[in-house]
Amino acid sequence: MQMTSNRGTTLPAAGGEKRSLRQRWAARLLLLIPVALGIGGCGNTGDIRPQSTIDPHTDFAEIIHHLYVSVFWWTAIILAVVWIALAYVLVRFREKPDSPKPRQVHGHLGLEIGWTVAPALIVVAIAIPTIQGVFATQRSAGENPFVVEVTGNQFWWSFHYPEEGITTASELYLPVGRPISLNLDSNDVIHSFWVPLLGGKRDVNPRVAQPEGVEHRSNNLYFTIREPGTYLGQCAEFCGEGHALMRMRVVALLEDDFAEWAEAWRTSTPAVGPGALEAAAEPEAGEETGMMEGNPAALALDDGAAAPQGAGARGQVEHDDELLAMGADVFFNVSYCALCHAIENTPAGGAIGPNLTLYGTRGTLGAGIRPNTQENLVEWLRSPQSLKRGARMPGVSEPGIGITGTVYPPTGLTDEQLEALAAYLLSLR
Ligand code: CUA
Repeated sequence: MQMTSNRGTTLPAAGGEKRSLRQRWAARLLLLIPVALGIGGCGNTGDIRPQSTIDPHTDFAEIIHHLYVSVFWWTAIILAVVWIALAYVLVRFREKPDSPKPRQVHGHLGLEIGWTVAPALIVVAIAIPTIQGVFATQRSAGENPFVVEVTGNQFWWSFHYPEEGITTASELYLPVGRPISLNLDSNDVIHSFWVPLLGGKRDVNPRVAQPEGVEHRSNNLYFTIREPGTYLGQCAEFCGEGHALMRMRVVALLEDDFAEWAEAWRTSTPAVGPGALEAAAEPEAGEETGMMEGNPAALALDDGAAAPQGAGARGQVEHDDELLAMGADVFFNVSYCALCHAIENTPAGGAIGPNLTLYGTRGTLGAGIRPNTQENLVEWLRSPQSLKRGARMPGVSEPGIGITGTVYPPTGLTDEQLEALAAYLLSLR
């Protein structure tokens, strides 16, 4: 913006005509600096790290990065040598009046050997670290790795921690500084796990029926994350209509913070249970069942505004209370969300869709496609297809189609039920 508006005024008429071309270009380049900084800054919000293949944050990514840098310098040297030789020949042997024909070198033995052997040596110099890198990045997990079973689904990621007994989706929490072993499998088609800052992409192959006596082998990715932060990733193998919207985040936490998160996951208890609506019908019983033990700020979402509390906001709290009870009723009793989704410490144990434990703490919905707000969630619940073509989940008036062709009937929820369901899901934190 600034660049276009200033273009005419930075070169004042008085004395302006005396400015050399070089000065004009220097002025233009200077103007580009704030623009470049602005653009560069865009991707860097908070500790969310944008996708980049030249900014390694694990040992795995470092190996690939070193290889990339060394190949870059080899090619840069080759480019320089070729250009210098070319410039020399063009100048030295340019045609001048009366100049004699230069000495012809066609078939010169020394030159022929030189330009055959030199590139061969360069190829060897590049091949050795490349092969070392391939073996280093394909190595199997060392002693006592932290194992996560990653499962690709059309079009979202599931993460299961066998040691911790945790299952989550779309946001992969990992401890910093511990060797991580990701076992990669798919429930349907081939996907590819890719979080550029953490390392190269790796195919996620379908679990298929194995011939007798052949053991199933998952693909594996093995790395150690260096710094805490949120790393963006996505599916990198075309897998259907929703491929481009099959995103994920890796949330890398210090060991203590990770243990805290795991504990929060295991002990999380939704503020309202499946039978909250009936309980709310008897107001006194509702007070006693501890329905507001959960964090009322859960409804405040990401805007940081605290939900109203205290005596003055009593009416609001009761309203929220009713909304959550209604949402829980929709989830467990009306729309049978629990057949596909699980929420820890509730009767919901479905394993077809994403596990929704601590759902309200997720930054995004629909596997990374929108900020996880009440408004967006209502939109998603109303029509998953309009946000992500090919999504398996049913909407209000559209059926969901499972991988085996199973049809999940439309939910037929009213606007009020959608609002309540979204509020309930966001209260899971
Ligand atoms: Cu999964 Cu592309």
